Amino acid sequence: MTQPSWFSAGFPHIWLPYTQMKTTPPPLTVARTDGARITLADGRELIDGIASWWTACHGYNHPHIRAAVEKQLADMPHMMFGGLVNEPALKLAQRLAAMLPGNLDHVFFVDSGSVAVEVALKMATQYWLNQGVRTRTKFLAFNGGYHGDTIATMAVSDPDEGMHKMFGGLLPHHHVIDLPRDDKSIAAFEAFLAREAEHLAGIIVEPLVQGAGGMIFHDADVLRRLRAAADRQNLLLIFDEIFTGFGRTGTMFACEAAGVVPDIITLSKALTGGTMALAATVASSKVFDAFWSDNPEHALMHGPTFMGNPLACAAANASLDLFETEPRLEQVAAISDQLARGLEPCRNLRHVKDVRTKGAIGVVELDRIDNLNDLKQRFVDAGVWVRPFGKIVYLTPAFTIGTDDLDKLTTRVRAVLSA
Ligand SMILES: Cc1ncc(COP(=O)(O)O)c(C=O)c1O
Repeated sequence: MTQPSWFSAGFPHIWLPYTQMKTTPPPLTVARTDGARITLADGRELIDGIASWWTACHGYNHPHIRAAVEKQLADMPHMMFGGLVNEPALKLAQRLAAMLPGNLDHVFFVDSGSVAVEVALKMATQYWLNQGVRTRTKFLAFNGGYHGDTIATMAVSDPDEGMHKMFGGLLPHHHVIDLPRDDKSIAAFEAFLAREAEHLAGIIVEPLVQGAGGMIFHDADVLRRLRAAADRQNLLLIFDEIFTGFGRTGTMFACEAAGVVPDIITLSKALTGGTMALAATVASSKVFDAFWSDNPEHALMHGPTFMGNPLACAAANASLDLFETEPRLEQVAAISDQLARGLEPCRNLRHVKDVRTKGAIGVVELDRIDNLNDLKQRFVDAGVWVRPFGKIVYLTPAFTIGTDDLDKLTTRVRAVLSA
């Protein structure tokens, strides 16, 4: 395939994510997107099974989001958030507070998911410091978890299975154990808390689905167990809903499925419908109140340059409009059924260990993938954009994907895996 001139001129200067630059096959060059379709610079079209790392929940180039961003671009693309506020950001904060359960009412905007988690950890630590408690500085996190690539977020992600194994010596030490999901792990969890709870600021978990750690599902019971333990031991409970938020697991937020309200929740990815970088750390009144003080040192000392960016907040408000005016959760339920039907036959294929679906997430777990690059190329050759990792082939399409395109996706996943 001939590459466009911008590729040969620019590629020597780019450093790609999660990529060995020496041996990587050349990445695909994207010219345009539309709905659930990606058009490559050479004219090929791919059906997108990933929605740009789970962000583009309304499909690409949704006219309602585009119009909102264009209008905001004409009025005010950016304005610092220190000492100045803007209407899209305040409107979005009000809407998120109204949508989230319980009194998760205080929204701190940041610019990426990792930073939202960093802020959640910082908030939870300072929650205790502001009350004069200096000993609660550790977190409990879970094997299989992934919370980002920055230093603090690596320290609460899976230490062995994740991508951060080599950084062990650099990272602050927190506690990572198995999720309390069966008798053995529940007993270990309780024993751990009996021993360590007084040193913990809080517990952090991705509710219902551990995404980048391997698309591992757990039941809502686990979340109720965590809430009960956090209440008993006086710990803050942080739900990282950066992947699960905004409908992906079937309810607007995964915590709703468990009827559990965390003390802090992190949001990003589909927050702007996948158009702009934006994230939020939302605190309950209980957490916020610990910062409400006449003492300036009790303030949260954090402030990313682009926090509350009006363009991104306008996109997020437009995305929320679409959740209100279009039947997104019904679409997720229909996608869930279709994914289950379409992927289930993979269970009989050689090397397939498990097939599972939750909301608009479909997973085929293999016993191993010997050559990831080769597998990725086979999907591209089949006209679909599917990006397997570890031992996982997964689909997280846009909620607006047509039944025909979703059928093509599952059929081609089956065909590639059976070959
Ligand atoms: C659950 C979860 N938390 C945090 C992050 C980090 O977000 P970002 O890549 O925007 O820093 C991710 C990204 O995949 C995620 O899935």
